Amino acid sequence: MRTLTALAIAAVLSAGCAQPGGGHQHGAAAAPDARQPVAFPDEMRQHTLANMRDHLLALAQIQEAMAAGAHERAAQVAEQRLGMSSLQAHGAHEASRHMPQGMQDLGTSMHRHASRFALEVANSAATGKLEPALAALARTTQACVACHAAYRLK
Ligand code: HEC
Repeated sequence: MRTLTALAIAAVLSAGCAQPGGGHQHGAAAAPDARQPVAFPDEMRQHTLANMRDHLLALAQIQEAMAAGAHERAAQVAEQRLGMSSLQAHGAHEASRHMPQGMQDLGTSMHRHASRFALEVANSAATGKLEPALAALARTTQACVACHAAYRLK
C-alpha cells in the first residue's frame, strides 16, 4: 500500500510539474486538476470506460457474494473480471501501449491483487478466516483509487 500511495503521489506531483497552471477549472471552489492526461484513441477510450464501469459492478457483485457466503462465486467474479484472467478479455495489452509506466504498474497491481483476493477468498471457505481476503480486496480497490488520483483520459 505504501508503494501504491507513493506512486500515486509521485504521479500527481509530476503531472503538476508538466502542467503549470493546472487544468481549466470553472467555479472558485474547484481544486486544480493535477491528474496526468493520457491520450487514448477514441474507440479504446470508450471501451476502457465501459470496462471501468464493469470493474465497479464486479466489486459490488463480489461484496454481494461475500455477504451471501458464496465465496467461490466471489472468487470467480474477481478472477474473471478483475484478475489476471481478465487481461486478455479486455484488450489490456493493446491499451497498455498508450499508458505511461506508472499507470501500467497500477493496472498490474490491481490485476495481481484481484487474483490474490480470488485465491484468499476461496481458501477462506476452508480456514474460516476472511481477513486475508479482505486485505487483498482492499489492495485491489487501493489500486483503483491510486490510478484515478493520478491519471485521466483526454
Ligand atoms: C491503471 C489505471 C486505472 C485503474 C487500476 C482503474 N481505473 Fe477506473 N479509470 C481510469 C481512468 C484513467 C478513468 C477515466 C477518468 C477520467 O478521464 O476522468 C477511469 C474511470 C473509471 C470509471 C468511470 C467510467 C465512466 O464511464 O466514465 C469508473 C466507474 C472506474 N474507473 C472504476 C474503476 C474501478 C472500480 C477500478 C478498480 C477495480 C478501477 N476503475 C481501476 C483508470 C484506472
